Amino acid sequence: MLASGTGTILEALLEAGLPVTVVLVDRRCRAEEVAAAAGLAVEVVERTDFGAGFDRERYSGEVVAALAPHRLDVLAMAGFGTVLGEAFHGAYPGRVLNTHPSRLPAFKGWHAVEEALAAGVAETGCTVHVATLEVDEGPILAQEVVPVLAGDDAARLHERIKAVERRLYPATVRAFCEGLGASDEHGERRARA
Ligand code: GRF
Repeated sequence: MLASGTGTILEALLEAGLPVTVVLVDRRCRAEEVAAAAGLAVEVVERTDFGAGFDRERYSGEVVAALAPHRLDVLAMAGFGTVLGEAFHGAYPGRVLNTHPSRLPAFKGWHAVEEALAAGVAETGCTVHVATLEVDEGPILAQEVVPVLAGDDAARLHERIKAVERRLYPATVRAFCEGLGASDEHGERRARA
């Protein structure tokens, strides 16, 4: 798993019994603590540059190098705060999943919840999709609607969306992994992983 935040979605994957082996973070965050407490391997590939000169490809290469020894089949992002480039997506084509707090293609990007509120929509939601080089694009695997309620601010609305993500993401990741195991010539190895 790749995470940068509070790690509640990581907790949901663990509670669902999914075989998470390593958690990679791009900054010190609660997700790292959750992973360590669960006895998982933790890789910290700290991003130090948030400016215009950020070398995205080089950073992506560092992420790939950190993950390589873990021999991963599927990667699940949850609130990972760095957009990764070709070096990363090329290493795991079609094997990176993401959960996003809107009903894509509406409200792509980091401020999806705030933008849904600002747009005054009656409902938003969440999306699980295959992550590709283009941010918040890629084949959609599952979506669910979450109503916007009177008096919602971004924190309240996001928390209700995350409650749905904590159910939808583990179920969708599991189905995706089972699909790989059934259709892949390495299914035996994947089933054991
Ligand atoms: C989720 O809403 C995810 O969709 C978004 O970041 C949040 C991660 O939550 N991109 P947490 O850090 O797992 O609590």
